[in-house]
Amino acid sequence: MQAAACIFDLDGVIVDTARYHYLAWKRLTDQLGIHFTEEDNERLKGVSRMASLEIILEIGNRKVDERQKQEYATLKNNWYVDYISKMTPDEILPGSLEFIKELRNANIRVAIGSASKNTPMILERVGILKLFDAVADGNIISKAKPNPEVFLKAAEMAGIKPRKCVVFEDAVAGVQAALTAGMMCIGIGSRGILTQAHFVVPGLNEMNLAKLRTLEKDIQL
Ligand code: BG6
Ligand code: MG
Repeated sequence: MQAAACIFDLDGVIVDTARYHYLAWKRLTDQLGIHFTEEDNERLKGVSRMASLEIILEIGNRKVDERQKQEYATLKNNWYVDYISKMTPDEILPGSLEFIKELRNANIRVAIGSASKNTPMILERVGILKLFDAVADGNIISKAKPNPEVFLKAAEMAGIKPRKCVVFEDAVAGVQAALTAGMMCIGIGSRGILTQAHFVVPGLNEMNLAKLRTLEKDIQL
């Protein structure tokens, strides 16, 4: 394949917001008396807000009604928004900006494919909203990763066919979504966790256009 668009997950790929999600969930679980560790938090990566809450309630073995769930999700999100509203451009992960700008200069479309409803706020806070040709996020999709909806939407908005898209993802559910969408997927993180990705790099600082061109050569979609 030869990529005409690169679609980036946001949390954990371009910015390290996974830390803030953890702190906000931790505050809720402490309040509820649920034992919640950083290891448990791995299960929440890429997963929607409500699905994350379900996992937490399962860990704590709690049964609560819908109204209570909405209340917990709102509490967590308010704390999370408190953290991200203080974000600065310094929190963009190393190499991301350079790589995205290199792609743009080569006329490759760049898009966001994120489950987060807070995507516009984060992009705005770190000052990169204008860099993207398309932003598909939790506000415009109804099916969470591993469903491919968010990546298919990003491709459609960027005007590029799925088999011409490469996805950069740090979550297992996100890698599955990319593959189901019929796209090439480069995992961001560890090979041991992102076993299904076509390739894995530790971070976008390990990526450049020449490397992308080499990696994509071996991929048939
Ligand atoms: C994903 C994160 O990008 O967005 C998840 O990896 C998060 O941890 C999900 O739950 C939904 O985010 P938000 O900001 O809409 O609660
Ligand atoms: Mg992520």
